[in-house]
Amino acid sequence: MFNNFPLWPERASSLAPGVDALYIFLVILSGFMSVLIFAFVLFFAAKYRRRPGVLAEQIEGSNALELTWSIIPMFVFLAIFVWGAALYYKMRTPPRDATEVYVVAKQWMWKFEHAEGQREINELHVPVGQNVKMIMTSQDVIHSFFVPAFRVKQDVLPGRYTITWFKATKPGTYHLFCAEYCGSQHSGMIGWIDVMEPAQYQAWLSGGTAIPAAQAGQQLFASLGCVTCHRADTQGRGPNLVGVAGKPVLLEDGRTVTADDEYIRESILNPGAKIVAGFKPIMPTFQGMVTEEQLNELVAYVKSLNQTPLNQIPKPTSVTQNNSAPSGAPQMQVQ
Ligand code: CUA
Repeated sequence: MFNNFPLWPERASSLAPGVDALYIFLVILSGFMSVLIFAFVLFFAAKYRRRPGVLAEQIEGSNALELTWSIIPMFVFLAIFVWGAALYYKMRTPPRDATEVYVVAKQWMWKFEHAEGQREINELHVPVGQNVKMIMTSQDVIHSFFVPAFRVKQDVLPGRYTITWFKATKPGTYHLFCAEYCGSQHSGMIGWIDVMEPAQYQAWLSGGTAIPAAQAGQQLFASLGCVTCHRADTQGRGPNLVGVAGKPVLLEDGRTVTADDEYIRESILNPGAKIVAGFKPIMPTFQGMVTEEQLNELVAYVKSLNQTPLNQIPKPTSVTQNNSAPSGAPQMQVQ
C-alpha cells in the first residue's frame, strides 16, 4: 500500500502470511488495549476530578469486575499461545520432501552448498515453490540466518547443526542478514537469496561442474579411510552405515538414539561419545582433520546411503578430487 514506506518487508515465503497475521493481530490487540486504557484514564480523571465541597468515598471493589478483567485476558493470552505455538511448530518442522542446503557461517560470510554440489558465497539460488531445508553450522562464533522476506530467523552455532526451512513463493532477490552481533564486520555479513522459476533454476544448476555433496562425501569417505572399517557388510570393524541415517541406533550403554545429522556429525568428531552396541571404541577422532564443509559432505553421503540401498561403498582408493582443501591440513579456523 505504501510503496516508498513499507510497513513490513515483502512476503515471499509460505510462512510469511501466517507470521504477519499473528503479528498484525498482536499489534491491533495492543493498540486497542492502549486506546481503551488511555480513554478510561482521561474519562476518570475528568469525572473524579477534585471539586470544592465534594469528599472522596471509599470503594470496596467488585468481584464481577475483577473476574471479568482476569478471565477475558486469560482466554486472549491462551489463544495467542496456541496460535504462536502452532506457527512455531510449523516453522520448526521442515517438510519431508525439502531439498537440503548446507550452510557454513563464518566471520564474515555465508557459505552454501547445495545437495547437487553447487557452492555459493553470500548468495543462494533456490527455485520458487520448493521446500528448502537449511542445515546450518558455524566455523567460529554465533551467527544468525535472517531473511526478512521469508520471515525466517535462526541462530547458527559452532559445533552443532541448527535447522530452518522455507518455501519461496515469489521469484525475486531478497536480502539475507546476519542477525547476531558477531564481530567488527557483522554489519557486512549480508547476502542475497535469488528465487528463480524452476526451469531457470534447473538451467542454473546444470551450469556448473559441481560434484553432488553426497558424492564429494563418498570420495572423502574413501580418501580418509573410513571405508576400511565401515563396510557394506557385517565384516567391518565399524558399523555398516547403509540405511542407518534417520533410524534408531542401539548403543553399547543400552541407550537408543536417532541417527540424525547431529549424531552423524558427532560420531565423526567425537566417535567415543556414542558407541554402537557390539562395537569397540577404536575409531579415531576426525576433529581438526575435516573442514565444516567436508563434514557436511560426509553427513550427506551417509544419508545418501538410505536413498539407494546397498549403494556401493567405494573401494579404498586414494581419491583426491575434491575442491575444498582435500589435503590433511585443516582449514584455518578464525577465532
Ligand atoms: Cu555473523 Cu553477525
